[in-house]
Amino acid sequence: MAERNVHSLGFFGRKSLFSMFSITSIFFMLSLLFVMRSTGRHHLFYLNVLPKSKILALSEEGYPQSRTESDYVSNERTFNKYDLLKCNPSKQILKVFMYDLPPQFHFELLGWKAEGKRIWPDIRKMVPHYPGGLNVQHSIEYWLTLDLLLSEFTDNLDGRSAIRVHNSSEADVIFVPFFSSVCYNRFSKVKPPQKRITNVLLQRKLVAFLTEQEEWKRSGGKDHIILAHHPNSLLDARMKLWPAMFILSDFGRYPPTVANVEKDVIAPYKHVIKNYDNDTSDFDSRPILLYFQGAIYRKDGGTVRQELFYMLKDEKDVHFSFGSILKGGVKQATSGMHSSKFCLNIAGDTPSSNRLFDAIASHCVPVIISDDIELPYEDVLDYTEFCIFVRTADALKQNFVINFIRSITKEEWTRMWTRLQEIENMFEYRYPSKDNDAVQMIWQAIARKVPAINFKVHKSARYSRSPVSKEEGMKSFPLPKNIL
Ligand SMILES: *[C@@H]1O[C@H](CO)[C@@H](O)[C@H](O)[C@H]1NC(C)=O
Ligand SMILES: *[C@@H]1O[C@H](CO)[C@@H](O)[C@H](O)[C@H]1NC(C)=O
Repeated sequence: MAERNVHSLGFFGRKSLFSMFSITSIFFMLSLLFVMRSTGRHHLFYLNVLPKSKILALSEEGYPQSRTESDYVSNERTFNKYDLLKCNPSKQILKVFMYDLPPQFHFELLGWKAEGKRIWPDIRKMVPHYPGGLNVQHSIEYWLTLDLLLSEFTDNLDGRSAIRVHNSSEADVIFVPFFSSVCYNRFSKVKPPQKRITNVLLQRKLVAFLTEQEEWKRSGGKDHIILAHHPNSLLDARMKLWPAMFILSDFGRYPPTVANVEKDVIAPYKHVIKNYDNDTSDFDSRPILLYFQGAIYRKDGGTVRQELFYMLKDEKDVHFSFGSILKGGVKQATSGMHSSKFCLNIAGDTPSSNRLFDAIASHCVPVIISDDIELPYEDVLDYTEFCIFVRTADALKQNFVINFIRSITKEEWTRMWTRLQEIENMFEYRYPSKDNDAVQMIWQAIARKVPAINFKVHKSARYSRSPVSKEEGMKSFPLPKNIL
């Protein structure tokens, strides 16, 4: 904060050289404001994205056989939507092709029973429920899929960042609707009379299915979106499907070649703590200074939690207790976090945890001690505006954390608390999804990666027309057919 003020003071202090620049900037900002107002868009600027569809629309203009045009003829619904896109060029929407995977890969895992040959529930009549409990923190697969299904029944594109398309050649990305997290959570044991574990079986089937698809072969899987939010989900298939973009909670259990921040997207957990609606609390009315509730981890260097426990347990106004939120009761944790100024997030057996998102929903300023954590949408969101970061090495120094926290003023805290309320919507999963909530933010994060995907796909296709020698042919299809 202090640093930023210094910069701005310096800026206005220098006279002649910058005065022209400032005047120009002011005019520029004014005209931007004017444009924003006149197009009726009140979103923050940086949330806008420029996915492939938009770029294509621009560059294809001169080509009579462009994809979009042939589609105008073939599909009336799509015609309406693209027409809308053309009328409102500030609106860029990700076009998503979704495989019609059999229901056993998605909604049947939630207990939904398909009637006859139906693949998808008729969400206009009934939306299948997500099973409760802590599994819900990894339920991104459910919300994203529902949003795609819903995109077919609405012509209102307000606040929508993605639509389903039925022609994969038109799509920016190919979505694989396998509910891998709930599959891991609920189907990782043998259930007689079955002889094999559903979670293992479905992953094998998925690999076999995908590698057979034209879409996969076309891009080598690079434009495929695969969801694996639970750190243990997709454990077998990830090693075969890695060219795809994964949507993950963190990279803790992935080799960097299989998943990394360039290729993949980090999605928030769905918080389990209740939202703090109409939060009228303030710095003084939240009695607990620092709150932590979580499990003790002994493996993977998670000893930080224990060390901190011994350092902090006797400090005044600190709540530090072990045990999962479910054991302690969601209700108790909710009231604890709603009554705290700061909430600790310490690396556990993986760098991320749902605690961060519980803290955001509680407007409890997160204190993050996790050197390897990757955060959702960090390319467009500055977490330092509402989080405190402490290096693990510093956190282990005597009294470092508590002194740091106590040094944060009421004004600084209030600023972060206010910002938390502005951004909390970006971490809300809901159906129907709304403007810039977690569902839309994930689509936008995917859209920002589309140019990089195209780059890789185009580059790897350079020699696709030239006669192929046997060895080269093998290389471009690295997945053996007999994986089963
Ligand atoms: C899908 O789109 C491609 C490219 O625009 C087009 O050539 C093809 O005819 C379309 N397929 C169908 C079934 O509409
Ligand atoms: C919050 O305030 C709004 C508007 O005053 C009201 O409609 C809503 O019911 C309140 N929510 C809660 C949980 O009190």
